[in-house]
Parts: sequence; structure tokens; C-alpha cells
Amino acid sequence: MKIFQMTIVVFLKLLPFGLLQDTSPQMNILQEAVRDDGNVKKEFDFIVIGSGPSGAVLANRLTEVPEWTVLLIEAGDETNIVADPPFVAGALQFTDYNWGYKAEQEDGFCRGCFEKRMLYPHGKALGGTSIINYMIQVRGNPLDYDRWAAMGNPGWSYKEVLPYFIKSEDAHIEKADAGYHGKGGYLSVSDVPARTESSHAYVRAAQEAGYPYVDYNGKSQIGVSYVQGTLRNGRRDSAETAFLRPVRGRKNLTILTKSRVVQILIRPETKEAYGIKYVRNKRYHEAIASKEVIVCAGGIPVLRDLPVGQKMYDHATFPALMFQLNESIVIDEEKSLTDLNTYIQFLSGRGIFTSLGGVESLTYIKTNASDDPDPSYPDIELIYVGGSLNTDRGLIFRRIFNVPQETYDKIWKPFEDKYLYQIFPMLVHPRSYGYIRLKSKDPFHWPKFYANFYSDPENHDVKTFIAAIREVRRINSSPSLQRYGATMVQTLIPGCEDHVFDSDEYWECAIRTLTGTFYHQVSTCKMGPEEDPEAVVDAKLRVHGVKNLRVVDTSVIPLPPTAHTAGPSYMIGEKASDLIKQQWAPTPFNLIPKTE
Ligand SMILES: Cc1cc2nc3c(=O)[nH]c(=O)nc-3n(C[C@H](O)[C@H](O)[C@H](O)COP(=O)(O)OP(=O)(O)OC[C@H]3O[C@@H](n4cnc5c(N)ncnc54)[C@H](O)[C@@H]3O)c2cc1C
Ligand SMILES: *[C@@H]1O[C@H](CO)[C@@H](O)[C@H](O)[C@H]1NC(C)=O
Ligand SMILES: *[C@@H]1O[C@H](CO)[C@@H](O)[C@H](O)[C@H]1NC(C)=O
Ligand SMILES: *[C@@H]1O[C@H](CO)[C@@H](O)[C@H](O)[C@H]1NC(C)=O
Repeated sequence: MKIFQMTIVVFLKLLPFGLLQDTSPQMNILQEAVRDDGNVKKEFDFIVIGSGPSGAVLANRLTEVPEWTVLLIEAGDETNIVADPPFVAGALQFTDYNWGYKAEQEDGFCRGCFEKRMLYPHGKALGGTSIINYMIQVRGNPLDYDRWAAMGNPGWSYKEVLPYFIKSEDAHIEKADAGYHGKGGYLSVSDVPARTESSHAYVRAAQEAGYPYVDYNGKSQIGVSYVQGTLRNGRRDSAETAFLRPVRGRKNLTILTKSRVVQILIRPETKEAYGIKYVRNKRYHEAIASKEVIVCAGGIPVLRDLPVGQKMYDHATFPALMFQLNESIVIDEEKSLTDLNTYIQFLSGRGIFTSLGGVESLTYIKTNASDDPDPSYPDIELIYVGGSLNTDRGLIFRRIFNVPQETYDKIWKPFEDKYLYQIFPMLVHPRSYGYIRLKSKDPFHWPKFYANFYSDPENHDVKTFIAAIREVRRINSSPSLQRYGATMVQTLIPGCEDHVFDSDEYWECAIRTLTGTFYHQVSTCKMGPEEDPEAVVDAKLRVHGVKNLRVVDTSVIPLPPTAHTAGPSYMIGEKASDLIKQQWAPTPFNLIPKTE
């Protein structure tokens, strides 16, 4: 068997890290930790590691079964109201709710970033990354899921997963397609109350350029739409507020925060997972699972001899595509923050604080670089922001994209008193992929992330980006934006001055110089049949070769979806809950398609 040789220790080496330094302070904690043989040893039916979207859904759904007890264990702390106002989402990366990783320096991208590296934030809190994310809710394209199924994963076609998206949802969307949305689910998905004049101009302009207005979580995805967000009454609806808070009174759900799992216990003879070892309050503890251990840690459990982390896809972006308008119709942050009214409005769930960090609209396009035979399959998502990296005077967003101060001063600063909107193109189906490596066996050491953007041999990813930039210019030339004299900012990116502005060579240089990510790392614990040499889990998310161990989070996604990944992660949690109930529940229990 490919797993184990002798010791069967499965290291969890996830997304750990202390803020912005190589070994987290907790490393010392591990060394100091002493084994605690006291009263902490506890037995549960299921142990769920990590409380992000997938883990929170599981903790909720599994404790619906009266006979079952569940331990949900989370390395991060409980959050508080600082996470509530969607507008400040970006700033949460600079708190303890972020593990604080950085991607490794590589040649082909981020050449002009500070330290030539990208930040690689990842949530560390009860609620996981849904505590620090931008709340953009996208399910993905039907073809994404049909392709997962076609790769040997029965049960994951669009038709089969759609009921799970609907089951989670409590939709408050004005232009929603009938038959695609849920009411009364735990997770509130809504229109964003705050919309700038500029976003209306953009949405009209995209329609003038030929894109229909769509519900991108409905019938068809290609087109333009105001963004849908995981908001309840204008506030962040996280995995914690949506799926955990309502059920915390359940006696059969135990939640442990500030508890870091360092090992999954596996019986060598039978290769069965039976528990975990974790560190809490500087002490080692063990917990036993009589049925299953479920890893929902959002990324990278490292299992001996399985191809974990060998392939990692991510969604790249270019953070310097700006257009100037001649009227004040974009976000005016200074004015908003100094206006008492802004705060009063937020109390009733309105106003600029409800904006998803400035994200207002999404457009799905299929550029003329696409060679996909299906006309309904986008290759780029355009994220419209009614402001720019200078809206906060370079305080937060410049840092998020690791733009050096000098570069900011040259490109953005001259426009601080002007009116800019910005488009972030997101390459949804990259051909390039990276990988993760461990630095050591110590679960407290950070792994190394190699994003490896723009490395595919045909340079197709770069070509797609360039086609997208030209398409953005075409949209910008539509009457509704031209009414405001919309023109592209043409300051040459430092490092690309030798190229002619707007030539293909210029844009290739630009996107390889300033590079960002939307933090959608997938495929590091790929789902696939046993014969697939890249697969770590099967279609029921069971780790190949180990019993009673599942991985349930975004890492199982086999190919990058046409989506931001929190939406799929909730769905994966719902689907896995049913798979587990099917296998273990004493009586048939509330399963799809039985519900509704
Ligand atoms: C800055 C940012 C913005 C984003 N914006 C969006 C967006 O707008 N829309 C969207 O759809 N997606 C967005 N994403 C991505 C999305 O939030 C994630 O893909 C999603 O939350 C992943 O869910 P998950 O269930 O896989 O795990 P996660 O949400 O990552 O949760 C994993 C949890 O496991 C815990 N954990 C890890 N290791 C251990 C351990 N050893 N012991 C105990 N606990 C452990 C972590 O602390 C964490 O709380 C964003 C991501 C980032 C970083
Ligand atoms: C578990 O929680 C559910 C839902 O609240 C409840 O019906 C059930 O009785 C609980 N079971 C136990 C063993 O506490
Ligand atoms: C692709 O589309 C852009 C506009 O979006 C256009 O400028 C360009 O000429 C097109 N290229 C080809 C090869 O059709
Ligand atoms: C903005 O530009 C448009 C198009 O050039 C022009 O018609 C309009 O008058 C300008 N508005 C302002 C306030 O200058």
C-alpha cells in the first residue's frame, strides 16, 4: 500500500503560521508542551478539524442526528464585531485572524512586488477564512461540476450539487432566477445595499457592450451582474454566524477554539484513523473519534506517501487596471468615514459599510483567447470596484497586493484626488499550477507555497489576461461610461517602461510585474479515483488507503472553479454531511433529494 511504511503519523501542517514570520510563536509552545494525561481525553463520534465553511456546515449537520456527538476543533480564536462591517474586510488580513503566510518568490510573476512575493492570507478563527474574506458569493459554472464528475467523481455533477447550494441558502436577491435559490437556509446571500453611481454606469456599459444582465448563480453565467454577497442585514454572514451560532446550544456539539491539531492518530495494523493529538494551553491532548476524523482545515493536511500538495491551482489577478472618471461617482472613503451618517446607516444595515471591500459587480466573459468548445464557459471574471488602490490612500489595499510604496507613489498617488474605478480580472481556469512543499516534519513550521503563475508552456494564461484587458477597454468605451469621460490610466508600470504602452509585450510585462491572487488555492488534496496518481481522496472524500478519515474542504476541488471558493466550500460541507449520514446514520436522515 502506498500509505505508510512504519510509523503512521499523519502530520497536519496547514496554513499554520504566526503573523509574518517564519516560525510562529507557537512553535515554542509545542516544545514546551507537556503531555496531559488528565481529564481531557474525550471520545466523540466525529472529530471535525477546522471551522471554515465546510467544517462549520459539518458540525451543524452532523449534530442534527440525535445519537451523534461531534467535536469541532479550531486553531484560531472566537471573533467579535470587528469582522462585521463588510467594507473593512481587507483590513482583517492584518489581524490575528490571518495565519499570515506568504507565497515563495518565483521568476515569472510578482517581479515588482515588495520582496517579489505575494501575501498568502488564510483565515484562523472560528469561521475560518469566511471571517476575513470579501463575502463574494459565487457557485461556479455548471460545467465546472460536470467536469469534476467526468473525472471519475460520481455524485458531483451540477445537477447533483445544485440542491446543496439551495439547501444552505437564504436568498435576498432582487434579480434572482426562479428555481435556483433557497429560502430559509442558514446562510444569507443577498444583494449589497451599498452601490455607487459608478457601478450603475459600469453595469449599463457592460450591457451596451453586449453582455446580458444575469443572475450568475442562476441559469447562465456569462454576462454582467451586481455582486451577491454572504450578508445578513448588511453585515458579514460567516460560517460561524450562519452555521455555528444558531446551534451552539446543542449538547452534542463541543467546540474547542485556540486548539491546534498536530497529528491524526491512525492504527498501523488496520490503517484506521481513531483520533487526534492537539495542543491547547501549551499542553498536548488527545481526543478519540469512534466513527471518523474529518479534516476541514482549508488546505493542506500532509499525508505520508499521498500526493498531497503536489498540485495547487490558484486564481491570479492584475491589481493595476484603473480608469479615471470626471465626476465624483465613486467611493469617497475619507468623506464616508468622517460622516456620522455612515455609522448611523450601518446600524440599519445600509450605507457604504455594507460594501464588500469596494467590490460591486462581476462580469463573466469568454475572451477570444479561449479555445473551450463550450460558448457558456467563461475564461475570465471581471471584478468591478467603485474605487482603486488609492481610495484608502495606500493604507490597506496597497499592502494587500504587496505594492511597494515607490510604485504606489508613481502610479496611484497622482490620482488621489481624482475619481478612479478599477477592474480586477481573475483568470478562472489557469493552465499553470503550483505546489506546496514542507520545510520539515514539524507541524509548526510553515509550508512553502509556490504559486507558479503564468508558467504554462504555451503562455496561454498570459494571452488570456491580455485578451481580457482589451475587452475591459472595449466595455469602458461604451456610452454609459463615456458619459463620465472614462479613460484608462496609462502610467507605465515601473519596470515596463521599455515597452510601448498597450502592446502585448507591455501587458505581459505589467501582469508579470504586479501580480495578485484571489486566494482560491484548490486541488492540494484532489478528489479522484484510486487510479488517478494525483488523487488523495475518493468521490466520497475518503482518504485513499486510510479508513475513517475524510478531507472536506476546498483542497479536494479537482479543477479551479469559475467561482470564488467559499461558495463551493459550503456546498462541499453540505454534500459531505449527507455522504456521512448515508454511511453511518442509524436511520435514514434528512438527505438530499429527500429534503424538499
Ligand atoms: C483575503 C481572502 C479573501 C477571500 N475572499 C473570498 C470571497 O470574497 N468569496 C469567496 O467565495 N471566497 C473568498 N476567499 C476564499 C474562501 O474564503 C476560502 O476558499 C474558504 O473559506 C475555504 O473554506 P474551507 O472550509 O476550505 O477552509 P477555511 O475557511 O480556510 O478554514 C479552515 C480552518 O481550519 C483551521 N485550521 C487549520 N489548521 C488547523 C489545525 N492544525 N488545527 C486546528 N484548526 C486548523 C484554520 O484556522 C481555519 O479556521 C477569500 C480568501 C481570502 C484569504
Ligand atoms: C443532539 O442535538 C440535537 C439537536 O439539538 C438533539 O435533537 C439531540 O437530542 C442531541 N443529542 C444528544 C445526545 O445530546
Ligand atoms: C479580441 O478581442 C479584442 C477586443 O476585446 C480585440 O481588440 C481583438 O482584436 C480581438 N482579437 C482577435 C484575434 O479577434
Ligand atoms: C465628462 O466627460 C464627458 C465626455 O467627455 C462630458 O460630456 C462631460 O461634460 C464631462 N463632465 C464633467 C463634469 O466635466
